[in-house]
Amino acid sequence: MTSLWVFTCLSAFLGAKLVPVTSAPPAVLTLGPEVINEMLTEQLKDQGATTILHKLPLLSAMRQEPSGGIPLLGSLVSSVLKHIIWLRVTSASILQLQVQPTVKDQELVVRIPLDMVAGFNTPLVKTIVEFHMETEAQAFIGVQSSPDGPHRLVLRDCLSSQSSLRISLLNKLSFLVNSLADKVINLLVPALPQMVKEELCPVIQTAFDGMYADFLKLVKAPIFLSPGLLRFDLLSPAITGSSIQLNLQAKLLDSKAKVTKWFNNSDTSLALPTQHRAPFSLIIREDVVSEVVAAILFPEELVVLLDFVLPELARELKMSIETFNKTAASLLGPTQIMKIVLKNSPQVFLSQTGAKMAQLVTLEVFASNKDVRPFFTLGIEASSEAQFYAEDDRLILNFNDLSCNRIHLMISDINLFNTDILKSVLTKVLSATLLSNENGKLRHGIPMPIVKTLGYDMASWSVFQGVTLPLQAWGLDSESSESVVFGHIRANMSYL
Ligand SMILES: *[C@@H]1O[C@H](CO)[C@@H](O)[C@H](O)[C@H]1NC(C)=O
Ligand SMILES: *[C@@H]1O[C@H](CO)[C@@H](O)[C@H](O)[C@H]1NC(C)=O
Repeated sequence: MTSLWVFTCLSAFLGAKLVPVTSAPPAVLTLGPEVINEMLTEQLKDQGATTILHKLPLLSAMRQEPSGGIPLLGSLVSSVLKHIIWLRVTSASILQLQVQPTVKDQELVVRIPLDMVAGFNTPLVKTIVEFHMETEAQAFIGVQSSPDGPHRLVLRDCLSSQSSLRISLLNKLSFLVNSLADKVINLLVPALPQMVKEELCPVIQTAFDGMYADFLKLVKAPIFLSPGLLRFDLLSPAITGSSIQLNLQAKLLDSKAKVTKWFNNSDTSLALPTQHRAPFSLIIREDVVSEVVAAILFPEELVVLLDFVLPELARELKMSIETFNKTAASLLGPTQIMKIVLKNSPQVFLSQTGAKMAQLVTLEVFASNKDVRPFFTLGIEASSEAQFYAEDDRLILNFNDLSCNRIHLMISDINLFNTDILKSVLTKVLSATLLSNENGKLRHGIPMPIVKTLGYDMASWSVFQGVTLPLQAWGLDSESSESVVFGHIRANMSYL
């Protein structure tokens, strides 16, 4: 399934707001609450968070906590503990995490609900006395700014509040056991939050560090072009609402892994969509996209044996030339050659009507393969419609509807003539040769590893016009039908 780039209103489609930023990073990867939730849950699992909960030292925590030098309480604790053979967590799970904004700037909180059953064994009754404990750990994630080094995401605080704690007995018991259980619960209530902080928060810290390392791995994953590579790196993180925004730097490398182009912050203002419902989005600045396309469509020379490859068009060219010079037309032999040279790489840009690609072509016509001097040479300003669409996790670009906007006669051995006469046939020739050659190079598309790494099957792109004429793309996730990827190109090209 593919979705074409369209100029629909992003705001209407996504309910997004546009926030102008004054310094535009080359790319912005925004990870929404859903992605943060999934990545942190995975890390907590890897770090064995539930195992830690199973090992919570309930007995020793009760012993330490409330006595605090008050003799009466101290003796209460020991009178309770006297009746308990063992006390431990018998089952534990971490429920669905919730990612929420906080009142503080550049901060979000991840609520980690903990669901546990604890039990104790007492000589007073044969069965285990079980109670249900529900509490929550809260991890506050913020941006740490540093005057010399780069900013980074940090776990600002980790705690468990008394207010999130609920403990209730699971069994019906005799009066005696019930009163013992109540005492145990009363001692656990003040002890548990501190215990969660001491035992679980270090694990949450490790999980957070792992998640942050995963973020960096995600943004640094090379994007293979052919030829060369596109690589992103973290410039600075930010938090907007309950999303993490990673501002990225970009560089293009050639096939020998040499950096051919750097993209840093630019002074142009950029309108970034916020509050979209996409699990994640990737916005790429227009100059980066244009250079990526240019890297794939490296300039080369096409030599076309016109009468051999496109006999119909060879005839049409001859007839067009006949209209102004019969002698010249008769000289065009069966071995006539057309040399098509790209003056520089094509540029992708946006106009009011859609995404476009512009290229400057030099076209030399040789009457036969024996000729060393061209019959005539033309400079052609050509443009095409540019379509972006997704196939799986790849971004595919395709050009069609080529038109020759202006044709300059540069050198002519057949005197001056009005180049407009050749417009129709040359448009067909360039579509059949140059454009299909370019589409062939672009056919495999640009793989976006982020999509698969985050567990989505595909992304789709679309086009959006904003404050500074951006061309913006976003993608659809096959499961949730929500947008996942953004691309952004801004038009600043004028051709000739
Ligand atoms: C962009 O930043 C990189 C690393 O900070 C630097 O090496 C490079 O020279 C910069 N390029 C430009 C064009 O400013
Ligand atoms: C027609 O082309 C020939 C060369 O093929 C040239 O010598 C001649 O001057 C041209 N005639 C006109 C009228 O342009």
